[in-house]
Amino acid sequence: MAKVESLGIKRLESVNYYVHDLERSRRFYTEVMDFAEIGESSEELTKRGRQKSVAFLAGNCAVVCITPQGEGGRAARWLRKYPDGVGTLNFEVEDAEKAFRLLEARGGTPIDDVRRERDAHGGEIAFFSITTPFGDSTFRFIERRGYRAILPGFEMYDAPRGGTNRLGFLGFDHTTSNFATLGHVSLWLEHVLGFERFWEIQFHTTDVDPTHAHGSGLRSLVYWDPRSGVKFANNEPWRPNFRASQINVFCEELRGPGVQHLAIAVKDIIACVRMLRARGLAFMPTPGTYYDMLPARLEKLGVGSIAEDLAVLRELEILVDGDGPGKYLLQIFLKESSGLYKEEAAGPFFFEIIQRKGDQGFGAGNFRALFESIERAQDGQLQGAKR
Ligand SMILES: [Fe+2]
Repeated sequence: MAKVESLGIKRLESVNYYVHDLERSRRFYTEVMDFAEIGESSEELTKRGRQKSVAFLAGNCAVVCITPQGEGGRAARWLRKYPDGVGTLNFEVEDAEKAFRLLEARGGTPIDDVRRERDAHGGEIAFFSITTPFGDSTFRFIERRGYRAILPGFEMYDAPRGGTNRLGFLGFDHTTSNFATLGHVSLWLEHVLGFERFWEIQFHTTDVDPTHAHGSGLRSLVYWDPRSGVKFANNEPWRPNFRASQINVFCEELRGPGVQHLAIAVKDIIACVRMLRARGLAFMPTPGTYYDMLPARLEKLGVGSIAEDLAVLRELEILVDGDGPGKYLLQIFLKESSGLYKEEAAGPFFFEIIQRKGDQGFGAGNFRALFESIERAQDGQLQGAKR
């Protein structure tokens, strides 16, 4: 495979999230997730875009929640078709013009030309957006030179409001998206974005159900940008029981392909999850048998002993996976928004929280545990695993 020139991505700096209920999002980010509210769209931008944007930040994770103000804006168009969801991934790049040239030459489809602006303090920003195979989600590439605002037209607060990142969020670790089929997605990531294949896996849960009547499968391709470490995990359903696959169910709930979850890296997942549980936040359930089998699984993975107390992991339902001596990761998945709010229009998106201890994988072993826990949430059945 011939390597293509790097786009010069530095990081995934923020996501735009379209929501029906901005006040609910404000409470979720500032009161539960301990994000600071750092700015909002100016009156002029709100009027022109026919949508209100509010930006939240914790560590290096920024989320911009956007809600329609009347008809005609992108948020209104999105929400007419879809439930709440990720409409744009915003990547910081070294050089916006260069990224634009490379993308256009490789068959990328820009929505606009590069727009370059200065702020009153001499800061400079240059950015453009492209369409993607991720449904109606777009990618935006932003070059910053001392430009503080999220984008032109945003008013950033002098004193951030709300949370102070006591949960210890560091930054976005990876993005996972679901599709009806992956062929064109992998070609696009490889040949247009210039990403490389990082990892792939396929599995089916029919083997944990002796009748083979239940269970579903997925195929997953992970792509990454080796320079920045930005990673995309991408899933498609896998027969049998294609329709019942959580990947297919997600695409039906979102009414198309799109971003399923964003993983946030943390310093101390135990303290983080303890705080979130104390605030009443709901996570995907993990069966107790997972922890009964964990010491043997870690042994098999060659991890050896881990620093965390298994009883604490069991209590908090934190998952563990490993990759050789002393290399492991801890992760947990929030309940999807429609489940958190008991409202279909809140959408099937969710957050993952991850702490890496030397393992650069995604929790391949837990991939299955996540899969099973979603299945369980979806059909209310325990598939052979009881505490
Ligand atoms: Fe993940």
